[in-house]
Amino acid sequence: MTTPPKLGAGTRLDFHGPLSADRAGRLVAELAARAPATVVDYGCGWGEFLLRVMAAAPGAQGTGIDVHGPDIVRGRALAAERGLSGRAVFVEGPAADHTEPADLVLSLGAYQAFGSIPEALQALRARVSPGGRLLFGCEVWERTPTESQLAAMWPGMTVEECLYLPDVVDAAVAAGFRPLRVETATRGEWEEFESGYGADAEEWLLANPGHPEAADLRAQLDEHLSIWLRGTRDVFGFGYLTLGVPA
Ligand SMILES: C[S@@+](CC[C@H](N)C(=O)[O-])C[C@H]1O[C@@H](n2cnc3c(N)ncnc32)[C@H](O)[C@@H]1O
Repeated sequence: MTTPPKLGAGTRLDFHGPLSADRAGRLVAELAARAPATVVDYGCGWGEFLLRVMAAAPGAQGTGIDVHGPDIVRGRALAAERGLSGRAVFVEGPAADHTEPADLVLSLGAYQAFGSIPEALQALRARVSPGGRLLFGCEVWERTPTESQLAAMWPGMTVEECLYLPDVVDAAVAAGFRPLRVETATRGEWEEFESGYGADAEEWLLANPGHPEAADLRAQLDEHLSIWLRGTRDVFGFGYLTLGVPA
């Protein structure tokens, strides 16, 4: 009997966040054009963005760090497929354990590895070499959620759990960065991400409706869909900040 896919494994996603191929391509090109010698991705997931930077910056050595073992395994396999294993190393463990500064630092959807957004920006500032760059991606409030939207998100979710975009930029400046680019995900990027998140599980359910684990998976998918459609849709945004530090 087939095993159900694990919701959130992201097997149908390129990135574990609302990031289109177009935006990723432009950001990768801009960051790689500076020819970083070292690149570190804190909370890399399976490292798709890191690997695209490595492909575009042939002189770079890259390290991806994540606590989630299956993503590290997937990252290593992707690196091997693309002939990048010699330059892209994947390390399983907490981001905070790694302090070596790099020319290019990535933190996409993973600030929690260092605490709050201001705490993460402070920690990441110490990990960017002089003249280097940080690409920082995080959730922001696109607009203030109503009480019913908050209640439809996760238990205990409050307005204080997330910042507005200008406050994230202020926190970056306070940490010692200058904002070179400030951009936000489109509704289309969110729709691709949220639909892709459960796509493998939805198809498995259609093929295995009578499986003993089908009801449980269906309940998880329904909950995910409700959080998105009744809670976060058009309320949760995602900011991408390209941040520079002085030489
Ligand atoms: C939303 S995913 C983003 C993954 C990847 N950056 C991307 O954009 O595709 C957040 C990642 O942060 C990782 N993470 C969470 N806490 C961490 C920690 N303390 N140290 C390292 N990674 C962590 C999770 O395991 C997860 O893979």
